[in-house]
Amino acid sequence: MTLSQSKTERPVAREPLAEKAVYFKQWLRAPLEMGSVAPASPSLCKLVADNIVRGPNEYIVETGGGTGAVSRALLEAGVPAERLIVVEMAPDLAAHLRHAHPDITVIEGDARRLLDLLPDSVIGRVGTVICGIPMAMLPLDVMRPIVEGMFALMPPGRRFLHYSFCITSPLPFKKLGLSPERIGFTLGNFPPASVWGYTT
Ligand SMILES: C[S@@+](CC[C@H](N)C(=O)[O-])C[C@H]1O[C@@H](n2cnc3c(N)ncnc32)[C@H](O)[C@@H]1O
Repeated sequence: MTLSQSKTERPVAREPLAEKAVYFKQWLRAPLEMGSVAPASPSLCKLVADNIVRGPNEYIVETGGGTGAVSRALLEAGVPAERLIVVEMAPDLAAHLRHAHPDITVIEGDARRLLDLLPDSVIGRVGTVICGIPMAMLPLDVMRPIVEGMFALMPPGRRFLHYSFCITSPLPFKKLGLSPERIGFTLGNFPPASVWGYTT
């Protein structure tokens, strides 16, 4: 199964400076929830987008969308806007995402409640979940419902992607019963970052 080749027709919003300012303001408010001082770089976003799997009728779900750098890369890689759903906890960032990407679905809420937040019609029909939440900062009892919810969205056997600055697995995979794979690494992000894939 490969990513649909169709490219989106709509122009994709590009406001890098405004985006960085919104991101930094939120980082000042909630540094632990943001994890980094700046949005993901284009090279990191491309690494994520290059590794998604999506069948023709499947969705892509992003948890922790931030200011939408990864969302933009996914749209540019051909994910149809109507198949992209972003869950973001911070109200200002959710509002920013809706403004920057009016055609995607933005859900404001905590990814610990993923199955309550997403419509039933999406559950089990997500090709790949991309986790942008700084998971390494979270205690296990917060991590666990997020991980379980992400797997419940996808058909059995799929993996979720997670980008992180950690050199070793950002998730305690043994405690969570997961198999990790470090899919790629980029120096073109500050700080340098890896994309991890996790399966059950
Ligand atoms: C590292 S930032 C995402 C970066 C994003 N790719 C970008 O470049 O803008 C992490 C995001 O996860 C969000 N977040 C943290 N915990 C969350 C949770 N439990 N549910 C949903 N979003 C969460 C934060 O508000 C923040 O926007």
